[in-house]
Amino acid sequence: MEIKKVAVIGAGTMGNGIAQVAAQTGMSVILQDIREDLVERGLKSIQNSLEKFVAKSVITADQKREILSRIFTTTNLEAVVKADIVIEAVTEAFEVKRTLWQTLDQLCRTDVIFASNTSSISITRLAAQTRRPDRFIGMHFFNPVPLMKLVEVVRGLATSTDTSAQVHALAKALGKTPVEANDFPGFISNRILIPMINESIFAVMEGVGSPEAIDAVMKLGMNHPMGPLALADFIGLDVCLSIMDVLYDGFNDPKYRPCPLLKKMVDAGYLGKKSGQGFYRY
Ligand code: 3HC
Repeated sequence: MEIKKVAVIGAGTMGNGIAQVAAQTGMSVILQDIREDLVERGLKSIQNSLEKFVAKSVITADQKREILSRIFTTTNLEAVVKADIVIEAVTEAFEVKRTLWQTLDQLCRTDVIFASNTSSISITRLAAQTRRPDRFIGMHFFNPVPLMKLVEVVRGLATSTDTSAQVHALAKALGKTPVEANDFPGFISNRILIPMINESIFAVMEGVGSPEAIDAVMKLGMNHPMGPLALADFIGLDVCLSIMDVLYDGFNDPKYRPCPLLKKMVDAGYLGKKSGQGFYRY
């Protein structure tokens, strides 16, 4: 089956980014969220991102209009029935995703592929909520989606080779590079990235260096585009903590214990860029 119509559930940072890249590659997109204001905010982000590409002559103003015309926004979940693939990018909460996938499983044709953009919830466990675990897969995009080249394709225990091949092809059609991971806590990306961030927070807590010093070491010494603490603020400290918790619970290994300073900052409501305060002020 050729994937021509993509439904994206969740118009937040990841969802609107995914919808944008799909529309940019000529696909027809249904972008759904539960409230009108959330859908509008998502569309506004897409407009802003496309405007940056127009300003840099990556696309023309006409192309921007065409891209936007390919995105149909809705608050009605039933509108996704026409899609060939559903990509879910809603809140990282198992119960929310479970209810959603059960509903989608009833609504969508049996040949429709289900992909979750989850950063840490088990694909095998999500797939088991549906009657099509063989057609269920992880499609883990990276923020900012329009710029980041990777899609981590996560195979659950029952994901079929055919589903994986179709999703690899889709990722390539979206201009991304798919990399396959098997379904273990944190997959490849967050199993490596988030403990690095956690260790950086231990280094702050123990007074090894200031956030500025730690970030400068990683930027200038390791050529990372952002230091780990600036990146933690960008990802959200609550998200970093919840991924550390998934690693800690999933492996039962103390090497994944979340740093107490990370917990304290989340308790204080210092969530990074989105709250205006993290390791830096915004
Ligand atoms: N759309 C279009 N253009 C965008 C954009 C967007 N959404 N976001 C940024 N840009 C453009 C900016 O306008 C800017 O253009 P300019 O060079 O012409 O001014 C250019 O990209 C660079 O942006 P900035 O000047 O703001 O800053 P940087 O040079 O630092 O680049 C960055 C920003 C691309 C985000 C870079 O810092 C970077 O690659 N950072 C690391 C990001 C990263 O690691 N992401 C993964 C997070 S983990 C994740 O998502 C997984 C999850 O499961 C946790």
